[in-house]
Amino acid sequence: MSKYHLLYRLRITPWERYRTAAAGSVARLLNREAHERPELGRALDLGCGLGHYTRELARQGWTATGIDAVAGAIERARTFGDGDVGDGHVRFVEGDVRDLAEDLGTFDFFLDVGCLEGLDDADLARAAASITARANPGATLLMLAFGPRFHWLIDGLSREQIERAFAGWTMLRVEPAQTRGLGWPMNMTSPHWYRLRLA
Ligand SMILES: C[S@@+](CC[C@H](N)C(=O)[O-])C[C@H]1O[C@@H](n2cnc3c(N)ncnc32)[C@H](O)[C@@H]1O
Repeated sequence: MSKYHLLYRLRITPWERYRTAAAGSVARLLNREAHERPELGRALDLGCGLGHYTRELARQGWTATGIDAVAGAIERARTFGDGDVGDGHVRFVEGDVRDLAEDLGTFDFFLDVGCLEGLDDADLARAAASITARANPGATLLMLAFGPRFHWLIDGLSREQIERAFAGWTMLRVEPAQTRGLGWPMNMTSPHWYRLRLA
C-alpha cells in the first residue's frame, strides 16, 4: 500500500489545510491562466485528491478531469459532485499520472498541486512523457513543488529536475509559493509555482 493509500484510509490529508490557507493565491494563478486564453478547453488535474481544484477549474469554464491513483480519494471526490459545474464540466477518474490512458483524450492545461513532486527522477520522466503524449500543442502546465528534499518525510523537486524531465517544454515562469498554512517543516522547503508551455 502506498503512502497516499494509507493516508486516505486514515483520513489524514494535511494538504487540505494548505488549500484553505492558499485559496486566494491559487485562485489568482488559475484566473491568470484562464484570462490568457480566448477560450477554455480541457484541463487535467494531476493527483487531484478530493478534487477541490478540479471543481474550481470547472467553475471557471474548463472541461475538467481529475485523476488520482487512490480509488478512495476519487470516490470521495465524486461525492462532492461531478457533471456540470459553473460554466464547465467535471469528472473524476482513477489512474496513474505515469501512465495516462489514451482514452482520457488530450488536454490544453495541466494542474499539479503536490503530486509530481513525490516522484523520483525515473518516475518523473515517465510522468512527463505521459503528460506530453496527452498534451495539445501549446498546452500549459502549472505545478506547485516544494524545493529539493531536505527532510525524509517531505518530497520536493528542483527547477533543474523539472526542466530535465519536461525537456520539450519551455519554462515560462517560476515564482515563490505562499508558505502560510504549510506549518513546520514544510514552510522551510521554499515551494515554487512553475509554469511551462509545450513548445
Ligand atoms: C499532496 S496530495 C495533493 C492532492 C490535491 N492535488 C490537493 O492539492 O488537494 C498528492 C496527491 O497525488 C496523488 N498521487 C500520488 N502519486 C500519484 C500517481 N502516480 N498517479 C496519480 N495520483 C498520484 C495522491 O494520491 C494524492 O492525492
